[in-house]
Amino acid sequence: MSLEIEPLTPVFGARITGFSIRDGIDAATIEALDSAIDDCSLLVLPGQPVTDEEQVAFTERFGPLEETLPGAVGAGSKVARMSNFLPDGTLKDPNGQQALFTRANNFWHTDSSFKEVPARASCLSARRLATTGGDTEFASTRAAYEALSAEMKAKVDGLIAYHDIAHSRLKLSPDAVTEEQRRRMPAVPQALVRTNPRTGRKSLLIGSHICRMDGMSDEEAVALNEELFAIATRPEHTYHHVWSPDDIVIWDNRATLHRGHLYDEVNDRRLMVRTTLAGTAATVVDGVIQSGA
Ligand code: OGA
Ligand code: MN
Repeated sequence: MSLEIEPLTPVFGARITGFSIRDGIDAATIEALDSAIDDCSLLVLPGQPVTDEEQVAFTERFGPLEETLPGAVGAGSKVARMSNFLPDGTLKDPNGQQALFTRANNFWHTDSSFKEVPARASCLSARRLATTGGDTEFASTRAAYEALSAEMKAKVDGLIAYHDIAHSRLKLSPDAVTEEQRRRMPAVPQALVRTNPRTGRKSLLIGSHICRMDGMSDEEAVALNEELFAIATRPEHTYHHVWSPDDIVIWDNRATLHRGHLYDEVNDRRLMVRTTLAGTAATVVDGVIQSGA
């Protein structure tokens, strides 16, 4: 198989063709894709129809998968349904907890940063597209880090931020998170700057889940998160994906942010299926930042 890799933007992203998940992929191709996740941060794989089973088997070639959160549809499975309808076809109540959970994807975020070991990468396949809307945007937090002034790099290197899923969900509605979910998922510390162990390149671990940082007031932490956010989401650091049927997109959660765009959840239907590659280590252990996690 010979992969064709075309850059999507000057700073990150690649469109990769020349192979078929359904027809079987050799180990060398998996290795090339694995390196491309580290090097390019975002892979667009057009024309890759998959079933849930095929998507799980494909993603597992890169490493172990995360299981879906308690409270999500099909909790504990390896596939997460990002959709406004249930597997039996009924539309979700647009104000119900399930719908709010999916709608929180419209804030810039990185998947699973609220877990002690944050996810490495996510793989999203387009199963049913909304008639209008429902695009997904990506931002390179690696390009953002590299664009910082030397003073700012010195300020953020070594900082620890706390990520809390409730913090982002509660911006939508007081009903978005149950007491039980809050108890099971308390805020976790994460390094604000991560170094990719393979490439040695640094990126910012920011996003809507950050509620506070060590060594400063909550107001200062929120302001710093917003300042970094503004840099990460500058047009030159972002890529806007307009989905085609059977697209697969893989992003490196360690080096990107993403957000979904709104669509008509009441009248339209959209189904995206995500498998999530688990991370290998916590970024902070006993209050100490781990290099290369
Ligand atoms: C996700 C996500 C956004 C979208 O699957 O993690 O944030 O556009 N999806 O569906
Ligand atoms: Mn997401």
